[in-house]
Amino acid sequence: MSIPIKISGIGYYVPETVISNDDLAKIVDTSDEWIKTRTGIERRHLLSGNETAFDMGLAAAKKAIEKSGVKPEEIDYIIAAACLGTHIYPSTACELQAALGADKAVCFDITAACAGLIYGMGISKAFMDSGMAKNVLIVATEALSHCLDWSDRGTCVLFGDGAGAMVLSVAEDGQNDILSIGLRAQGDLGHYITMESPGKNCSLVEQNDEGQMYIKMNGREVYKYVVTKLPPHIEECVEKSGLKMDEIDYLVPHQANLRIIEALEKRLNFKHEGVISNIQEYANTSAASIPIALAESIEQGKMKLPCTAILTGFGAGMTAGTAVVRLREGIA
Ligand code: COA
Repeated sequence: MSIPIKISGIGYYVPETVISNDDLAKIVDTSDEWIKTRTGIERRHLLSGNETAFDMGLAAAKKAIEKSGVKPEEIDYIIAAACLGTHIYPSTACELQAALGADKAVCFDITAACAGLIYGMGISKAFMDSGMAKNVLIVATEALSHCLDWSDRGTCVLFGDGAGAMVLSVAEDGQNDILSIGLRAQGDLGHYITMESPGKNCSLVEQNDEGQMYIKMNGREVYKYVVTKLPPHIEECVEKSGLKMDEIDYLVPHQANLRIIEALEKRLNFKHEGVISNIQEYANTSAASIPIALAESIEQGKMKLPCTAILTGFGAGMTAGTAVVRLREGIA
């Protein structure tokens, strides 16, 4: 049974430290011009000092909860999406539960990389449809600067740190905000983007090199995969939503690369003024990029509420997820 779900609150947080393309050119052989023309990225916000993925996630979660009007003790599930949480365990979701005082929440982390928010929405919907949850908090928090080889110019220029959060609630007024949702995975292409576990065999069994937990990526193949596979998946979700592409106000894509966003806009024939992008400021913040783009655009008045929007993400796995949503006033 499908029950009406309300997107009741969204929040985001980004660290204060800003690193420009020119700054990066001091540590790797790159240039502002190369990065800007290939990706659209101009700056990224990075963690510093003792601040962690958990801290960012907590700040974003508090904002989303405040906007939602839901009390922490009313949250049934906390789902965290993070490439690298502060700890492998306890999970980021459990850490958030304790800090928020969401005592009755069931907590777990998911690994769906940049599609993490949409995967979290799909899981939340299943819990709500089955009667297992009334309120779910999804927190995407990404400390990608801790996962990068800062001597690899092919990856280190592309990513940034940040967090976004969303509260979903059973809609008491009967208005459904999740018009359609679709999730995909293609594990046979998993080698396009990888981050190895540092775990190694026991030294009594064999000697091992130190593990290196860095993001590695075949950027060209990722690019080709996304621009060919994502548009039909988005079109399918739009059809399921009952809306037509030109009736939807905004397209909020995962912020991986401006060229990919432009290719999606063109391929979907989406109105340019409705395409949301802030990649120039934050670079690719993986699962956090969609909620950051959403909450920031609403806050800055670039997205006018109420509205309809396509949220679409893709990433390591390869994973992809798209949701066609209605966004009410006062959610961010
Ligand atoms: N600065 C300067 N030169 C760089 C560089 C950098 N930061 N990174 C790579 N290069 C060089 C390469 O070494 C290569 O040089 P060569 O021709 O002498 O060997 C050249 O630029 C072209 O490299 P290539 O990787 O083929 O570039 P590209 O045009 O494919 O652009 C990406 C690279 C990563 C920007 C592009 O492939 C991309 O955006 N892919 C999608 C990645 C993505 O979205 N990932 C996240 C998914 S969630």
